[in-house]
Amino acid sequence: MTDSKPARYAVIGHPIAHSRSPDIHARFAAQTGQHLSYERLLAPLDGFRETVRAFRASGGAGCNVTVPFKLEAAALADHLTDRARQAGAVNTLVFGAQGILGDNTDGAGLVSDLTGRIGCVLKEARVLVLGAGGAVRGVISPLLDAGVASLTVANRTAARARALQDDLLPTLPADKAQVLQAGGLELARGRFDLVINGTSAGLNDELPALPGGLLGQARVALDMVYGARPTAFMRLAQAEGCPRVEDGLGMLVGQAAESFFLWRGVRPDAPAVWKALRVQIQAEAGDAH
Ligand code: ATR
Repeated sequence: MTDSKPARYAVIGHPIAHSRSPDIHARFAAQTGQHLSYERLLAPLDGFRETVRAFRASGGAGCNVTVPFKLEAAALADHLTDRARQAGAVNTLVFGAQGILGDNTDGAGLVSDLTGRIGCVLKEARVLVLGAGGAVRGVISPLLDAGVASLTVANRTAARARALQDDLLPTLPADKAQVLQAGGLELARGRFDLVINGTSAGLNDELPALPGGLLGQARVALDMVYGARPTAFMRLAQAEGCPRVEDGLGMLVGQAAESFFLWRGVRPDAPAVWKALRVQIQAEAGDAH
């Protein structure tokens, strides 16, 4: 069947030139023998709906959605998965005969990277998540579903963390609702097994104000952003002696693997692609010097 037309997918965002998704999905397709194409689509800031419509009309089978369109994608979808509804945002659209399905694979991607490649046991773990923006909203219910003992969301602006909790609580079963706490950075005290930085502070080489020693006590510290060099959060965790310090590259590959599974029904080997990308990102940074 290799002479048939490939199934078409895309990632839609603004900007989009930097997106690694085409590379990741091309690697998944090669791994699994799936016949597909995956392109970058730049949507005008006021033209997301039209870009999705045109891509679907031209034969697209589904797409990923990135900044700044994840909320619009949730509004556009005809049906939402529970995790997309809880996240209030959509990063994956599936075009089907019954309409457009919107899903959010970000949290599942983070959880699969943690429990798979990183080998972090989430069951009964005490977890601290820093930040309360869109990136954090998407990962709360998948972390709760993984059976954590406690999940503390601490944000610089306490009211924003409480608003996130208020939005989520009605959607959660009682046993999960009771392990979730949210508030200001004063909640970032005590002992946590896993600390996840979901703030955007690292993009400016900053980090939330944390008590000394907090990261040194954790088994795993993970920053959701990624790059060739460790973020300020990762450097602090290393300096305090945290044994496992990670960035968000595995989450990126993990969410792509979940989208690929939704579209194709086949699970790619995400850690193998993570390894190849890690080498590539370090090589690109080396070339730039
Ligand atoms: P995203 O969609 O990436 O989550 P966002 O919605 O703008 O982006 O949220 C950014 C998050 O990073 C917020 O939790 C923000 O804290 P506030 O709600 O207090 O603004 C957090 N953040 C950004 N820079 C920070 C810094 N220097 N220190 C602490 N938190 C920071």
